[in-house]
Amino acid sequence: MSHEYTAPVPDIREDDVPEPGAVTIVVPTFNESANVRQLLRQIRESVPRRLPCEVVFVDDSTDDTPEVIRDAAKDCPFPVTVLHRDEPVGGLGGAVVEGIRAAGSDWVVVMDGDCQHPPSLVPELVATGERAGAELVVASRYIEGGSRAGLAGGYRVAVSKGATWLTKSLFPRRLHRISDPMSGFFAIRRSTVSADALKPLGYKILLELAVRSRPERVAEVPFVFQDRYAGESKSTAAEGARFLRHLLGLRAASPVARMIGFGLIGLTGFLPNLLALWALTRTGLHYLPAEILANQFGVAWNFVLIEHLLFRDRRAHRRWWDRVGRFALLANADLVLRIPLIALFVHRFGMGALSATALALVTTFVLRFAGTEALVYLP
Ligand code: GDD
Ligand code: MN
Repeated sequence: MSHEYTAPVPDIREDDVPEPGAVTIVVPTFNESANVRQLLRQIRESVPRRLPCEVVFVDDSTDDTPEVIRDAAKDCPFPVTVLHRDEPVGGLGGAVVEGIRAAGSDWVVVMDGDCQHPPSLVPELVATGERAGAELVVASRYIEGGSRAGLAGGYRVAVSKGATWLTKSLFPRRLHRISDPMSGFFAIRRSTVSADALKPLGYKILLELAVRSRPERVAEVPFVFQDRYAGESKSTAAEGARFLRHLLGLRAASPVARMIGFGLIGLTGFLPNLLALWALTRTGLHYLPAEILANQFGVAWNFVLIEHLLFRDRRAHRRWWDRVGRFALLANADLVLRIPLIALFVHRFGMGALSATALALVTTFVLRFAGTEALVYLP
């Protein structure tokens, strides 16, 4: 899938470097040929004197970035590797995970390839982690001493603040001690990262790691987000949509949140259901067959939303028509089951009609949720 080459290294052989107390710097790049030479120069000037390092670029470029890196690496007294991906999966985040897999040192520092993250901070991030016994050290723009000078324009600042607020409120516990979960600059101990459990999707790889790898101890170091050295941000509107999907996917990893999402989606299903009922009875159809037909509209609506919002990463186990069939069966069984259940509650347990109905609704809802998980989306 990806091919790999290591640039010629003047005085350190590659197998010399991975060792405790060293750092692997992982840099994702997408068409950064005008920046990588400058980045390597900055790393050379500020890192190896204080900390042995290697640099791993994970590159999805369509330009000559790999060649420029290889050429610039000739001047570097540390190993420089380029992993070029022919099939970029997961965008920036996917690239970072590949880099973490390839890292030779326990400490990994992730940073951008456009010089917005000052390499002079790399030794400090690692030293802070060692001193504080932390597994994750975040370079933050939002603590005393940090700033977002390089975030051009009030619009981007507002979007960044809004996204940070939304994200922190969705994951209050996991992000409790992280002031800047959107930062792309951080140090993490490789031993905390179980790469196979990650599902990176786009830019917010720190968020992915903080939520799914659950580092126990977290520290922060302030930093000033610099201006881009050359070129423009690679982020697009599509990246914004990807971020929202990433948030949903992360949140849906907890069963309680998934059940709440399932219930909310179910509620929205009343709308197409009622609309269809209205349209069908207007054609003169008897209300009973109309009810049954209209219910299928609600079922279809729920299915599409659940597939895309809740279980998008669990669809591969069955074909789509198999999933539709099972889902529809469960949804209709729910309807059929409700009446005898209400009768049971009323006659056997002497409940009132209203409370019996409420209990039946809750029961069939939980059954339907559990059934959907187990019968439609589990392998
Ligand atoms: N391999 C790979 N694949 N690299 C990518 C991709 C991709 O699909 N997309 C972007 N990159 C690389 C860029 O080449 C750059 O080195 C780095 O990832 C960051 O991309 P930018 O496009 O410069 O990001 P930004 O400046 O808009 O956003 C940065 O700051 C944000 C905070 O405001 C990133 O660090 C974000 O993660 C961060 O949230
Ligand atoms: Mn950038």
